[in-house]
Amino acid sequence: MTNLLIVEDETRMREVLMMLLSDMELTMFEARDGAEAIEIFDSETIHLVITDLKLPKVGGMEVLGHIKKKNPEVPVIIITAFGSIDNAVEAIRLGAFDYVTKPFTEDKLRACVEKAMQISRLTSEVEYLRSEIESKYTFNNIVGNSSEICDILRLAGEVSRTDTTVLITGESGTGKELLSRATHLNSPRGKGPFLPVNCAAIPSALLESELFGYERGAFTGAQQQKKGKFELASGGTLFLDEIGDMTLDVQAKFLRVLESKSFERLGGTKTIQADVRIIAATNKDLEKMVHARTFREDLYYRISVFPIRIPPLRERRSDIPLLSLYFVGEFSTAFGLPPPVLSDKIMEMLTNHPWKGNIRELRNVLERAMILSRGSDKITSRHVILNESHDIPLGEFDLDRIVRLLIRDHRVGLEELEKRCINYAMTTAESNVSKAARLLGLSRATLRYRLDKLEK
Ligand SMILES: Nc1ncnc2c1ncn2[C@@H]1O[C@H](COP(=O)(O)OP(=O)(O)OP(=O)(O)O)[C@@H](O)[C@H]1O
Ligand SMILES: [Mg+2]
Repeated sequence: MTNLLIVEDETRMREVLMMLLSDMELTMFEARDGAEAIEIFDSETIHLVITDLKLPKVGGMEVLGHIKKKNPEVPVIIITAFGSIDNAVEAIRLGAFDYVTKPFTEDKLRACVEKAMQISRLTSEVEYLRSEIESKYTFNNIVGNSSEICDILRLAGEVSRTDTTVLITGESGTGKELLSRATHLNSPRGKGPFLPVNCAAIPSALLESELFGYERGAFTGAQQQKKGKFELASGGTLFLDEIGDMTLDVQAKFLRVLESKSFERLGGTKTIQADVRIIAATNKDLEKMVHARTFREDLYYRISVFPIRIPPLRERRSDIPLLSLYFVGEFSTAFGLPPPVLSDKIMEMLTNHPWKGNIRELRNVLERAMILSRGSDKITSRHVILNESHDIPLGEFDLDRIVRLLIRDHRVGLEELEKRCINYAMTTAESNVSKAARLLGLSRATLRYRLDKLEK
């Protein structure tokens, strides 16, 4: 059903219009003046509008302007008095779909409405298909059903339609790059390039030329002109990965480009326009870095216009079962094997692991499990190798508990505890005193002194 809004101050004229269109598949709304028309348009879903130009309160031209601003896809048919063709032309220029002059014939009016209805139907179909494609193909490789990931996908979906700078933060392996790529693909720049630059992997001196390029002879070794990533990413997205590792020097230059939206190649004088969208990512706490003056405050505010934090996997454990099934499916396809079963016990084990390496670690563990379980129809605990020892972060609470357990009822005295710790460190360090001292957080001299004491 198409919702039609008729805007006409003369009651008789409104009735005629409604009667002439009564057998078409339309739900009709009536407005007696321009103000009422705007009110109805804003509160209802209107697909099509017929409006007179001469109206009390707010004129038809203004109603048209409002509609075109609010929802330019809605066709607006103008009714003009005979002899006022100039107005009709002006209305078409402002975006009206068509016009009919009074007095009009039934056929003329109905033909015009038919045409507009067709356009309106096509527009909503295109809109629907577009949103289907966006949700299906662009963000669909980001798996998860926790409220956290749903919120992130919603935010990323919204910001992807704009050119706004996005800052994605999160621990290593949480999916920052994956999200950046999806955001780019889903943006109007999606068909343009997506160029990642890893600020941590490139030495500071090189990073500058990598970003801005250089002219021939800009420095020794610059034998020919080279375009930088800012230029190469033109029309697309520049992904600045590990931005927290950018030196203060490069930060200053980068900020200047963000502010002026232009830059020069090293050793060059020509100003080049930067037509790029910036997505930055880091696993560092930039706010802390700002306090410590290792990250420029002004740059921080520039890039954190739209921050998205991806929480570590242990803070959204409800995603683990779905992710596990997804990765098992992925590797089964890659290995050409039917997907093995993940028992409840294994799922529980996976769900309770701390996953310090986040999704990347989970993916690696499952890849290994798939290789080890090759040929069998289920993955068992023998196949799932979790690296517990270095993964469990020891919190204050855990330490207190250990101390309570050891000391309670004088089970272990302080001296005994010290001896055990030193022995363990010496064994682990294969009797290398310097190494053992490092493990214990002591100086070599202190450990030597305590070892001597123990030997007495
Ligand atoms: N929600 C997710 N669904 C499916 N796969 C994911 C998801 N999040 C991350 N991954 C996968 O986990 C791996 C790590 O993701 P990614 O490289 O995007 O992390 P990152 O945050 O950029 O890590 P780092 O900080 O170490 O660079 C990739 O293989 C990625 O495809
Ligand atoms: Mg990354």
